[in-house]
Amino acid sequence: MPLKQKTTISVIKADVGSLVGHHITHPRQLEVARQHLEQARKESLIVDFHVTHCGDDLELIMSHQRGENDKEIHELAWNTFIDVTEKVSRPLKLYAAGQDLLSDAFSGNVKGMGPGAAELEFEERVSDPLVVFLADKTAPGAWNLPLYKIFADPFNTVGLVIDPSLHSGFTFEVLDTHEGLSIKLKCPEEIYDLLALIGDPNRYVISKISRNDGLPAAAASTSKLSMIAGRYVGKDDPVCIVRAQNGLPAVGEVLEPFASPHLVPGWMRGSHHGPLMPVSYSDSQNKCTRFDGPPRVVALGFQIANASLVGPADLFDDPAFDKARAKANDLADYLRLHGPFVPHRLGPEEMEYTTLTGVLEKLKNRFQKIQ
Ligand code: F6R
Ligand code: MG
Ligand code: MG
Repeated sequence: MPLKQKTTISVIKADVGSLVGHHITHPRQLEVARQHLEQARKESLIVDFHVTHCGDDLELIMSHQRGENDKEIHELAWNTFIDVTEKVSRPLKLYAAGQDLLSDAFSGNVKGMGPGAAELEFEERVSDPLVVFLADKTAPGAWNLPLYKIFADPFNTVGLVIDPSLHSGFTFEVLDTHEGLSIKLKCPEEIYDLLALIGDPNRYVISKISRNDGLPAAAASTSKLSMIAGRYVGKDDPVCIVRAQNGLPAVGEVLEPFASPHLVPGWMRGSHHGPLMPVSYSDSQNKCTRFDGPPRVVALGFQIANASLVGPADLFDDPAFDKARAKANDLADYLRLHGPFVPHRLGPEEMEYTTLTGVLEKLKNRFQKIQ
């Protein structure tokens, strides 16, 4: 098959076990993953890569020219996760070794098999800045609010108002994760319809965004582990790719929604709402300890140069985000006061996929009719 000339960024991730509960990856896991991707680079399957983590999730950021959903790229990621599990997670008895690998054999695409994937194919501009967001202890709908602000809210992205090249707006592709359907909504015309859906991030998840002239702008991972496994196996801990500048939102507009930590589902046992805290990827911030959280997001900036990844820049490593972190901690304190009560604990629909069902089952026969 002839190689395409466009560049593709594939961010594929999985939790394949971690150090001391569900808290952080082990450095040896990252080393083994790097060896795999280095070999793939030597064989020219990929052009470049960056291996990192967000909390307990192993993140493979790869650049290549094979397009989205390429079988060999997905197989490379799958085999890497298997190898890290066999060579590191199992021998070291890391916690929940191989957790997200829900299938016995690779079936052509990691989607539906446990790992999460966000992929974006595009023609490189003269200079192409791009931000990769990585989250831990939350679900794919966590990106709905920030993506809306970045690409549709002029109070966040002033470029929508004052830059003619953004002025015509963006089209959002939204998945209905319950029905397995997708819809495209053109904004600003259909902003209210968009909000009617994505305001319920448990069901509706933004998967792709393009500028209204077709320019690819963003992609997010959408896989829900509980929907694949039919039970709770850890949160999905989604990833997202956003291109920036020169006719797209500026990097500062892309980061701005995270200055106000919004509440997302996830955190302890995937069963609680908590604030999404923007953190540096340095080990001092990028780990989930308090009540297994609170949920976190890391932002890595890259310049894409002939399909190479120049960077990363650690974009939340800025005192300007200290207040967001402090606010997230205040919100965490407040929510924790509620203990096992909603709205800290998730509502019944989302709790269906947790271990709570086992407890309710046990009580079922003890209920008596009210006289
Ligand atoms: C959340 C998460 C953790 C675990 C919790 C219980 O995504 O991974 O909060 O749910 O530590 O884990 P187990 O049941 O493995 O003891
Ligand atoms: Mg884990
Ligand atoms: Mg995780």
